[in-house]
Amino acid sequence: MSAEYKVHGDVAVITMNNPPVNGLGYATRVAIAQGLDKANADAAVKAIVITGAGKAFSGGADIKEFGSPKAIAEPNLLSVISAVENSSKPVVAALHSVVMGGGLELALGCHYRVGAPGASVALPEVKLGLIPGAGGTQRLPRVLGVEVALNMIVSGEPVKSEMLAQLPGQKLFDKMAASDASLLEEAVAYARSVADARPLPLVRNLPCKHPQGDAYFQFARNMVKGMAKNFPAPAKCVDAVEAATKKKFDEGMSFERELFANLMLTPESRALRHLFMAERAASKIPDVPEDTPKREIKSVAVIGAGTMGGGISMNFLNAGIPVTILEMKQDALDRGIGIIRKNYESQVKKGKLKQDKYDQRMGLLKTTLDYKELKDADMVIEAVFEEIGVKQKVFEALDGVMKPGAILASNTSTLDVNKIASFTKRPQDVVGLHFFSPANVMKLLEVVRGEKTAKDVMATVMTAAKKIKKTAVVSGVCDGFIGNRMIEQYSRQAGFLLDEGATPQQVDKAIEKFGFAMGPFRMGDLAGNDIGWAIRKRRATERAEMKYSKTADKLCELGRFGQKTGAGWYDYKEGKRDAIPSKLVEDMVSEHRKSLGITPRKISDEEIVQRLVFSLVNEAAHILEEGIAARASDIDMVYITGYGFPMHRGGPMLYADQVGLFNVVQAMKRFQKNPRDDAKFWEPAPLLARLAAEGKTFN
Ligand code: NAI
Repeated sequence: MSAEYKVHGDVAVITMNNPPVNGLGYATRVAIAQGLDKANADAAVKAIVITGAGKAFSGGADIKEFGSPKAIAEPNLLSVISAVENSSKPVVAALHSVVMGGGLELALGCHYRVGAPGASVALPEVKLGLIPGAGGTQRLPRVLGVEVALNMIVSGEPVKSEMLAQLPGQKLFDKMAASDASLLEEAVAYARSVADARPLPLVRNLPCKHPQGDAYFQFARNMVKGMAKNFPAPAKCVDAVEAATKKKFDEGMSFERELFANLMLTPESRALRHLFMAERAASKIPDVPEDTPKREIKSVAVIGAGTMGGGISMNFLNAGIPVTILEMKQDALDRGIGIIRKNYESQVKKGKLKQDKYDQRMGLLKTTLDYKELKDADMVIEAVFEEIGVKQKVFEALDGVMKPGAILASNTSTLDVNKIASFTKRPQDVVGLHFFSPANVMKLLEVVRGEKTAKDVMATVMTAAKKIKKTAVVSGVCDGFIGNRMIEQYSRQAGFLLDEGATPQQVDKAIEKFGFAMGPFRMGDLAGNDIGWAIRKRRATERAEMKYSKTADKLCELGRFGQKTGAGWYDYKEGKRDAIPSKLVEDMVSEHRKSLGITPRKISDEEIVQRLVFSLVNEAAHILEEGIAARASDIDMVYITGYGFPMHRGGPMLYADQVGLFNVVQAMKRFQKNPRDDAKFWEPAPLLARLAAEGKTFN
C-alpha cells in the first residue's frame, strides 16, 4: 500500500507513503481512492484528512512511472481529484514540506487546506516543457489571484507556504498550523470543526477574474516570449490561465488537458524530460551499488593555483570545505589567491555574496609551498601544467606524503589517467576529475575512472560532486574522454567547411541558429585558439594519419589566438568581446583554398548543422560501444552542461534519435562522397549502423 488509512476518533486520515516524496504513482492513487471510499462508507467517520508521510505532502507525479502506461492508468490523477471533490464528507489537505505539481493539484481539489510553515509550494511542470495537467492552471488562479498564480506556473519556482498565506484575499490555506509537528493534530481538529458545514466548498466554484484582463495577458505574453525563446510551454501557461478567467470551469479544464497533451508530444518537452531523467541516471554507476561505503571528504588540497586550480578551489570553499593550495613559488601562489579574492569581491559588490560569507570562504583557504602540509587532506586535486613529466613529479610527491586512503585526483584534460595512477603505489586511489573552465561556474564534471580506481573512490567523488553542485558524468580512460574526444570531430568539420567555401561567421551563425550558445569559431576565440594548436602539435606524430584543415594552424602562426590577443577568427575592438568578421581571415582562408586547388562552393546552413552535429553523434556512438560512456544519456548530459548544446534539443544523442537514426546514417553516407571530407570518419559507427538498421534509438 502506498497510503495508510487510520481513524482518529471521527476523522479518517489518509497518509500517502511513497518515499522519497510521495509521488502520485499508480499504487498511491489507488490507495487514496480506496481510503476515500472507506471513509465515506463508514458512518462513524465525519471528515477526512489527506497528508503525506516523511519529507513531503507530495512532490507530484511519480518519476519512476514516466512514460509507462501506469502513469495514466485509472484512477488517474484527475479521477482521484474528482473523487475528492465528490466526497460526501469534507476532505482537508494537511500540507507540509513539499507540495508540488500533482501534489498541489490534489490539494486544490480538497474542500479545505491546512498548511505548515516552511512548505515549498510549486507547479514546476513548465520545467519539463509542460503545463500542469490536473487542473493546476484552472484552480491556482482561483485561490491566489491570476497574477501570483501565473507567475508561479510560468516560472515553476517554489514559494514558501507562509508567504502565500500572507497574501491578501488568498484562499489556498484555510488555516496555518504552528509547525510541522502540530500539523496533523491541527488538521484533524480543523476537519472536526467543519465536519457538519454544508455545502462543501469547492475551488472550482470560486470566481476567476482579472480587472485588466486583456492588457494583463498581453503583457504576460510579451514577457514570456523574451524569457523562453526555444520553449513553447511558458506561452501555453499564459493561454491556460487566461482560459481560467474566460471559460467556464469545465471548459477551462478541457482546454488545459488539450494543451497538456499537445505539449507532451513536442520535441522540447521530450528533451527536458529526457534531461531530467538523464541527470538522475548519470549519478548512478552500474557496477557501484548506491550503498557502497564512502570515504569522508572533510578537507581538500589543490596542486597548482592557475586558471583551473583557482576555480576548482572555489567550488569547495563555496561548499564550506577547507582547501589548501600548493604551488611551486610564492608569487604564483599570490597571483592565484589574488584572482580568487577578486572573484569573490566582485560577487560581494554585485550583492550576490554577503560579506560574512566572503570572510567565511576566504577563512577556509590556506596556501603552502610544502607537500608535507597536505598530508592530512582527504582528497587532493592536481591542476598543474599539462605535461606528463610534471604530472609524474607531482604524483610521486603526493604518494610520498598523503595519508593512506586519501583520494588522489588529476584534472588532466588529455593525459592517460592510468599512466598517472601508475606513478603511485596506490593506483586504486587515483581518479580523474575533469573540471571545465571556468571551473567555479561550469556545471559539468567528467569523473574519469581508471582501470584500477576503487569502487568506493568512485562512489565518494560522485557524492562530493553533488556537494559542490556539479553534474558528474563518468567517463572511461581515452584520449579526450567523452566531451573533448567528440569536440575534436566537430572542430575538424568546422575546418573542412571553411576549406570548402564557408566563412567562420556563416558556420557560427548556422549552428547558433540551431541553438548552440556559441559557434566553433567564436568559441575558439573565447577559449584561446592556441590550446588546440598545442594539442595538434603534440599529436602531429602519433596521429599523423588524422586529416584536418590547416587553417587553424595558419591563424595561430599569425598570433591570432583569440580575444586574449585582440584577434582570432574575428577582429575585436579593444576591451570588447563583439566578434567582427575579419577581412584578413577571409583572405587567409581563400589563399589556403587556392593552395589546395579548391573552388569554393555555397554551403547550406542545413549541411553545416548536420556535419557538425552528426560528427558528434558518430564519435559518441564509438564512445558508447567502447564502454567509455555507460549510457547515451550520459553523453547528452556532457554536451548540455559542458558544451553549450541547446537544451531544447536534449543533447546530441536524443537529437539524433528524434531525427531518426536511419536519416542520420543516410546523411553520413552522403558526406562520405565528399572528397574534401574524411570518408573514413563518416563510416557509421557499428553501434549506430546496427541501431539504424533495426529501427532503434540510442535512448
Ligand atoms: P595554468 O597554466 O593556468 O596553471 C597551472 C599552474 O600549475 C600554474 O600556476 C603553475 O605555476 C602550477 N604548477 C606547475 N607545475 C607545478 C608543480 N610541479 N607543482 C605545483 N604547481 C605547479 O593551467 P590550467 O589551465 O589551470 O590547467 C591546469 C590543468 O588543468 C592541466 O592539466 C589542463 O590540461 C587542465 N585543464 C585545463 C582546462 C582549461 O580550460 N584551462 C580545462 C580542463 C582541464
